[in-house]
Amino acid sequence: MDFVDWLNRKDLEYRNGELYFANLNTLNIVEKYNTPIYIINEQLIRKRYKQLKDILNLGYKKNRIYYAVKSNTNLSILKMLRSEGSYFDCSSTGEIYTCLKSGISSDRIIYTGNMFTNSDFEFAIDNDVLTNLDSYSQLIRLAKIYENKGKDKKIISFRFNPEFGAGHHPHTITAGKKIKFGILETQIVKTYTKAKELGFKKFGIHQHIGSGITDAKDYERPIEKFLFIIEKIVNDVGIQFEFIDFGGGLGIPYHPEANPLDLNKYSEIIIKNFRNIVEKGEIGEPILFIEPGRYISAEASIILTQINTIKDNGYKLFAGLDAGFHTLIRPTLYGSYHHILACNMKNEKKVLKYDIVGPICESGDVLGKERELHDLNEGDYLAILDAGAYGFTMSSPYNSRPRPAELLINDGNIYKIRDEETFEDLLKSQIIPKHLK
Ligand SMILES: Cc1ncc(COP(=O)(O)O)c(C=O)c1O
Repeated sequence: MDFVDWLNRKDLEYRNGELYFANLNTLNIVEKYNTPIYIINEQLIRKRYKQLKDILNLGYKKNRIYYAVKSNTNLSILKMLRSEGSYFDCSSTGEIYTCLKSGISSDRIIYTGNMFTNSDFEFAIDNDVLTNLDSYSQLIRLAKIYENKGKDKKIISFRFNPEFGAGHHPHTITAGKKIKFGILETQIVKTYTKAKELGFKKFGIHQHIGSGITDAKDYERPIEKFLFIIEKIVNDVGIQFEFIDFGGGLGIPYHPEANPLDLNKYSEIIIKNFRNIVEKGEIGEPILFIEPGRYISAEASIILTQINTIKDNGYKLFAGLDAGFHTLIRPTLYGSYHHILACNMKNEKKVLKYDIVGPICESGDVLGKERELHDLNEGDYLAILDAGAYGFTMSSPYNSRPRPAELLINDGNIYKIRDEETFEDLLKSQIIPKHLK
């Protein structure tokens, strides 16, 4: 992809050597706010949602997008997606609580947890949230809790593990015989049979093969198997599905030379094959769900950060930042690539190779290795791109460094949507026992 097109796709451009994001000069933003800071672009979030919705609508009208809340839980993002008509996929009761607090009704939430506790189930039942289970034993426990509460067992869903997964890193591949998620082919029919016996009246089915998939072909085999299993369950158990959930995983081009996911191909692989079995008339006309997180939130956010130290140790040139793996852990955790740009290229001189590092007391605190950037100076600002998914949500106060603030930009306006944490915030949940006071 041409570099300028790649930047434009993310609503970024240089004007007279200064970096603009959503038509706002990043240098003006850092004049008013402390760094590091997350900046979220509202229009880009909405645009990504609409792109996916349009592609689904073209192929199969009965569809829903369940935004994967774990990728970015900010209340403003939840609210803007709700206003677009989104549904929400939660991986924990904390995420359900967050959605409910933001005004999302429980009938718009699916709870795809794993290793559920009984109190997770109580929370889901009390709040009328649809649960997507990932083991046979969980079904037995969930049914008991329904019975103890005297509540009607309406609808249940299970996560199928198709044994073929994909993803940007081994930790994000979520299907396979040795992977903890979902129910394998050998136990899935027995599980639905038991659910029917236990009195559940409506059913859904789900799979999610992994995260960060940029080649749509990676979906082919798992989906073929998923559809085969769906037909088998319908025939062997004698149930119909209200919905079929194809999960998320849609990747984005983090690297300027990476190919973006071909949405037409993605939709063809999922929808064409799905329609084929619907048209056979055996499985009814279930609603098609997908659960994208990263595709909607990743490119819509950058981190602005300041260089505090330039160090040439005789072997290597380092640019030391106020952002580190406490701000964005993906490079350290997964070896992920995040492109890094200078906010000001006005006085560009020679190009040098830098290791871009944070202030955390670990050698692994590297945000970019051997990055070619124009001669940097202490005090300069950089932008770390594509930080909107699994960025803030995975940040931490490690080394007692408070988490940063978040800004929302929309139509040229800037809104502070999260304050930076304070030192008091870091200590507020600690209790000192009497003998140590
Ligand atoms: C069950 C489930 N659905 C959806 C997602 C979202 O994945 P992505 O952000 O890659 O679209 C995840 C991510 O881990 C997941 O576990």
